[in-house]
Amino acid sequence: MNNMDFWKQFKPGFSILAPMEGVTDIAFRQVIAKAARPDIFYTEFTNVNSYTSEKGRHNALERFRIEESEQPIVPQIWGTKPEMFAETAKALKEMGFLAVDVNMGCPDRHVVATGGGSGLIRTPELAKEIIRATKTAGLPVSVKTRLGYSKVEEWEAWLTDILEEKPAALTVHLRTKKEMSKVAAHYELIPNILELKNKISPETVLIINGDFERPSDAQKYIDMGVDGVMIGRGVFHNPFCFEKTPREHSREDLIDLMCYHLDLYEKYGLSPYDPLKHFYKIYINNFPGASEIRDKLMHTKTVPEARQVINSL
Ligand SMILES: Cc1cc2nc3c(=O)[nH]c(=O)nc-3n(C[C@H](O)[C@H](O)[C@H](O)COP(=O)(O)O)c2cc1C
Repeated sequence: MNNMDFWKQFKPGFSILAPMEGVTDIAFRQVIAKAARPDIFYTEFTNVNSYTSEKGRHNALERFRIEESEQPIVPQIWGTKPEMFAETAKALKEMGFLAVDVNMGCPDRHVVATGGGSGLIRTPELAKEIIRATKTAGLPVSVKTRLGYSKVEEWEAWLTDILEEKPAALTVHLRTKKEMSKVAAHYELIPNILELKNKISPETVLIINGDFERPSDAQKYIDMGVDGVMIGRGVFHNPFCFEKTPREHSREDLIDLMCYHLDLYEKYGLSPYDPLKHFYKIYINNFPGASEIRDKLMHTKTVPEARQVINSL
């Protein structure tokens, strides 16, 4: 496959597990692959400053660690310095990645304070320069962003700026930075965004994101011409949400997934333990006695202790 064909291999209606910092690490991605695989994975976002500095490189490489079985997977990077994007993208190509995504949507105040993530919406010239610099590595470059910084009406000027750079794919989280995730996603703008995309950069693959619980929720928009759907928090409500034919899952199915997650956490030597507890409510939920079990799990301090709680069920 030619590198530039990466996005062209997916059929309309393809699905993506959204990048989620602190969530979609190598272990959780494999949990979702086992439950029901999306068509594409993304890594959590990684700062190009850390990859390009000696001190941060080890950490960055950990975040780019994947299993070949996770392909197709797109590493996501963020930052503000075009030359660092170029260098990181070049390294990603050498590592064997087939595409790269630039984060222009993160609303985290620490990220925005650096001018990165959704901060780039306020500096479109820099955003454009970053896309151009990232492209120099020879990988297809996609962008994930929001509708605007503070007002929904910004969407047209902002997405025009991005589309003029002809990204291979564009994911639009249908909210502004200011809206965080507090209001409903603006699905009403999808037809207009599609029209704009077709006018400025018809080759760009358009992916929509925000509040979808399963890929079929986006069918109406796929029928209009949108290419793919990205789902993030939907996996917290239902880790099987990428199933082609949805079915009921038993308590045992969920517990099996949790055990798999525990195994992977150990296998990859992930630490510290406490963040792993955030995942337990995904698996131990919606059955009689679930809250008592969760309570016991919240008091555990190690993976073997969590396993003991599960084994005693
Ligand atoms: C815990 C968490 C971490 C996130 N980290 C990232 C990230 O690293 N990169 C990114 O582009 N978006 C990140 N997002 C945003 C999601 O990718 C997605 O755009 C957002 O959750 C809306 O989609 P959803 O309604 O399907 O969850 C994160 C979201 C959450 C909840």
